[in-house]
Amino acid sequence: MDLSTTYLGLDLKCPIVPSASPLSESVSNIKKMEDAGAGAVVLHSLFEEQLTQSSLEIDHFLTLGSESHGEAASYFPHHDEYHVGPETYLHHIVEATSAVDIPIIASLNGVSSGGWTSFAKEIEAAGASALELNTYFIATDPELTGHEVERMYLEVVRDVTDAVSIPVAVKLNPFFSSLPYMCGQLVEAGAAGLVLFNRFYQPDLDIERLEVVPRVHLSSSEALRLPIRWIAILFGRIEADFALTSGVHTHEDVIKGLMAGANITMVASEILKNGIGRIPEMLIATSHWLEDHGYDSLRQCIGSMSQKHVAEPGAFERANYLRTLQSWPPKTQF
Ligand SMILES: Cc1cc2nc3c(=O)[nH]c(=O)nc-3n(C[C@H](O)[C@H](O)[C@H](O)COP(=O)(O)O)c2cc1C
Repeated sequence: MDLSTTYLGLDLKCPIVPSASPLSESVSNIKKMEDAGAGAVVLHSLFEEQLTQSSLEIDHFLTLGSESHGEAASYFPHHDEYHVGPETYLHHIVEATSAVDIPIIASLNGVSSGGWTSFAKEIEAAGASALELNTYFIATDPELTGHEVERMYLEVVRDVTDAVSIPVAVKLNPFFSSLPYMCGQLVEAGAAGLVLFNRFYQPDLDIERLEVVPRVHLSSSEALRLPIRWIAILFGRIEADFALTSGVHTHEDVIKGLMAGANITMVASEILKNGIGRIPEMLIATSHWLEDHGYDSLRQCIGSMSQKHVAEPGAFERANYLRTLQSWPPKTQF
């Protein structure tokens, strides 16, 4: 079975790509991922705050949600608490790209336009095949308009894409009033790919210690529904490649993502929990599934269940919503 696909102009031998996570902090893991059959690897992110703690833009956006910049700055981990610094990150790219033949996609995580974005050039020079820009930002200020937030995203995408000639994919969240418009704008600003979606880490409250507890919850396949729905709507309407991230745990999840219109499906929770060895298992099962269902290649199924040919996806979505609500209670099966 031909499992090859393309993403950001890169030819990948398969659609399973480990997304940014601590696993890619070690070159030996990256090697293991290549040996396991991964199509490419996304490195863990380097954060804007690591590149500049004092940029004016950061100051501006952080103080909007806090009483003083001094306090806002204290929210961030101290220098030594980050796993790696900028120099180590570049060195890691050099080491990873010389250790494996599959593409290495570096990851920058930032939200403000400014000097830090020029670091993208150094990432390119270090040998990354592409760059993923993670735009994790939660608007907490009632005075900050959606338009301002969108403009902030677009400026940072423009800055980064202007700085490099390697392709840039933007990892974004689903919380926009009009996601298709935002995606179109991101592409106009220079994004070659869209990575849907960032998972927002929702902190818990410890009611005994009166503390906010940051806790990473690994996903389950349930999380797949949001990105497949949106990729199915955007496929064929937005001129970009799509990477699906969130909820990919089985070969069925991979196939659903591709059928919705994703060029690649990314995995993090599954391999963090069950090991890199899950990649070949999922690839073999994907291959068998495609064979059993009469496909000659994986590319044949990309977008086959998208809404590309639905004239009015909005009405279609509303009709499905009504149908879903009316399907309760489920009919008894005899
Ligand atoms: C422990 C952990 C660390 C992560 N670190 C990053 C990161 O540095 N940059 C990033 O863009 N995403 C990061 N992610 C998000 C993942 O790349 C992925 O998008 C998310 O976990 C959803 O995919 P999943 O359902 O396969 O886990 C991290 C996720 C986990 C669980």
